Amino acid sequence: MKIIGGSGGRLLTALVAQELGLKASKVEIKRFPDGEKYIRIDDDVSGEDVAIIQSMHHEPDNFLFEYFLLCDTVRDLGAKRVIGVLPYFAYARQDSRFNPGEAVSFRTVTKLIEDVGTTELFSIDMHQHRVGRVSELLRIPVYNLTAAPLLAEYVKANMQLEKPVVIGPDEESEQWASAAAKVIGADHDILQKKRLGAEKVEITARSLNVRGRDVLIMDDIISTGGTIVEATKILKGQGARRVLVACTHPILAQDALPKIYESGAEVVIGTNTVPSPVSYVSVASLIAGAIRKL
Ligand code: R5P
Repeated sequence: MKIIGGSGGRLLTALVAQELGLKASKVEIKRFPDGEKYIRIDDDVSGEDVAIIQSMHHEPDNFLFEYFLLCDTVRDLGAKRVIGVLPYFAYARQDSRFNPGEAVSFRTVTKLIEDVGTTELFSIDMHQHRVGRVSELLRIPVYNLTAAPLLAEYVKANMQLEKPVVIGPDEESEQWASAAAKVIGADHDILQKKRLGAEKVEITARSLNVRGRDVLIMDDIISTGGTIVEATKILKGQGARRVLVACTHPILAQDALPKIYESGAEVVIGTNTVPSPVSYVSVASLIAGAIRKL
C-alpha cells in the first residue's frame, strides 16, 4: 500500500501514514509560470494499491483538478487500485438543479472522479440530502465515514456538560446529532431550517425544552456560519445554559468564526478534514482504520 497526499491533504496524509506505519510517497507539485500545474510522483507505484488523500477545502477547483492529475498519473504508472480519500467533498451541496439552467456540479465531479481511474472512494460526512445518492451516481464502491462519534468523544472528555442535549440545525443533521447523543448519553432533536440564499437561512425551533441545559449543536459543514448563528440565537433565546458547536468540516469562510462566537456560542470544535483554528479532532485514525479494512 502506498499513500500519496495532495496539497489539500498533506497533514492528514502524514498522520494517516503514521497510523499505518507507512511512509507517504514523495510527490512534486508546482506550477508552471503560466499557471498550469505540474505533478511528479517520486515513487514506484506499479502494481500497488495507492491511497490518494486530498481534501477539497478552500480551493476546491484547484484541489479537485490536482486529484485528477494524481489519480490518472498513478493509474498510468501501473497502480492496481486507487483509493480516493476525499474527506471534505466539495460540490456535494449542488446535487440538484435548484434553478433552471444550473449545473448539477456534484454529478459532474463524481463522473470525473470515476473517469480518472478511482477504484474506491472514501469521504467523511459527505453532504447528502438524499441518502444513497452518491452510491447511485457512481459505479465504484463509495464509503461515507462519519466523524460524529469522534467529535462527541472530544466534547464528552473536555467540556463537562450539564444536563446535555444534542441538536441538529436541520433535518439532514439528525444522523450526526443522534450519533453524538449516543456517545454523550443525551437525548437529541433537530431544528427546522429554510435556506433563503447562499448566506441566509431561517431557523425555527421545535418542541424540545433546552432551558437550563447545555446544548451541543452538531452539523457536517460550517461555511458562512449562517446556520449556526441562527441556531445559536434560537437556542439561547429558549434559555439554553451553554451552546457548544461541533462540525466535521470547519470551512469557516470569511468571518464565520467571530460571527458564531458573537452569537453566543461558547466553543466551536471541528476536525482536521479542513485545517482551521478549531480543528481539535483528528480523523486520521478513522481513515487509517477504513484503509486497513480494505
Ligand atoms: C446544509 O444543509 C449543511 O448541513 C450546513 O448546515 C450548511 O452547509 C452550513 O452552511 P453555512 O455555514 O453557510 O450556513
